[in-house]
Amino acid sequence: MATSNDLSGLRVAVTGGTSGLGLALTRAFRKRGAAVAIVARTAEAVERVARETGAAGIVGDVGVKDDIYPIALQINGRLGGLDVLINNASSLGPVPLRLLGDTDCEDLEEAIAVNLVGPFRLTKALLGALAASAREGRGAVVLNISSDAAVNAYAGWGAYGASKAALKHLSAIWNEEQAAHGVRVLSLDPGDMDTALHALAVPDADPASLKRPETSADELIAAIVAALPPQRAAQPVGGYA
Ligand SMILES: NC(=O)c1ccc[n+]([C@@H]2O[C@H](COP(=O)([O-])OP(=O)(O)OC[C@H]3O[C@@H](n4cnc5c(N)ncnc54)[C@H](OP(=O)(O)O)[C@@H]3O)[C@@H](O)[C@H]2O)c1
Repeated sequence: MATSNDLSGLRVAVTGGTSGLGLALTRAFRKRGAAVAIVARTAEAVERVARETGAAGIVGDVGVKDDIYPIALQINGRLGGLDVLINNASSLGPVPLRLLGDTDCEDLEEAIAVNLVGPFRLTKALLGALAASAREGRGAVVLNISSDAAVNAYAGWGAYGASKAALKHLSAIWNEEQAAHGVRVLSLDPGDMDTALHALAVPDADPASLKRPETSADELIAAIVAALPPQRAAQPVGGYA
């Protein structure tokens, strides 16, 4: 039986895998033997993290429509299929954060493109691969990273909070619709973490009061493993293409 500590053979894609929570997830999955593909926009960071962790590095912007199929094709091709998709990359919207009345429509559109439409497109593009994994008994999980801003109305967090609220509801509907195909779709809040995104949003926060992203990564991995079939044995996986 697979445990949180032995994930050999699991094939995982992490968007935003070069920083903060995504980097912590990538390191934690690799340490447990999973094959991982990371996606981010900055080629240098993708190469650095790929070298450090042995993950397959993919450069792309999940907020750009034309990037989605190339990203999905590379994930599938380099991992030889996919068991777990983590939509983690995120845009804060306007920074410094501002009230909705002062938010440009383009900033709202950008937050929705990256935080909602991007995860929707990427999930859609990879649904066939995920359903195949479920049919093979490997299990299939999509984890959409949420936030307390998805449920609480924090002043100044309008673009980000609205996009995360929509992502949370989208996840619940995906989960209902995909249950018959064995694909689980989760939406989980990792908590307030000491990351670049948090520093950008709340520059005067005391880092000591925030969670370490490594702690959140371990909790999320436990939730993913709990959503996989209990009998899921260590599965064979091809090398990176
Ligand atoms: N930090 C917190 O306190 C907190 C709290 C609740 C929820 N969350 C959620 O946790 C997740 C991770 O946040 P974090 O704090 O770890 O962020 P982070 O440290 O800023 O890392 C963001 C990652 O996403 C990538 N990225 C950003 N925009 C992208 C795009 N359009 N396409 C592809 N990659 C993109 C970044 O690399 P490039 O810039 O090179 O693309 C980077 O790898 C997010 O979904 C966030 O909303 C965070």
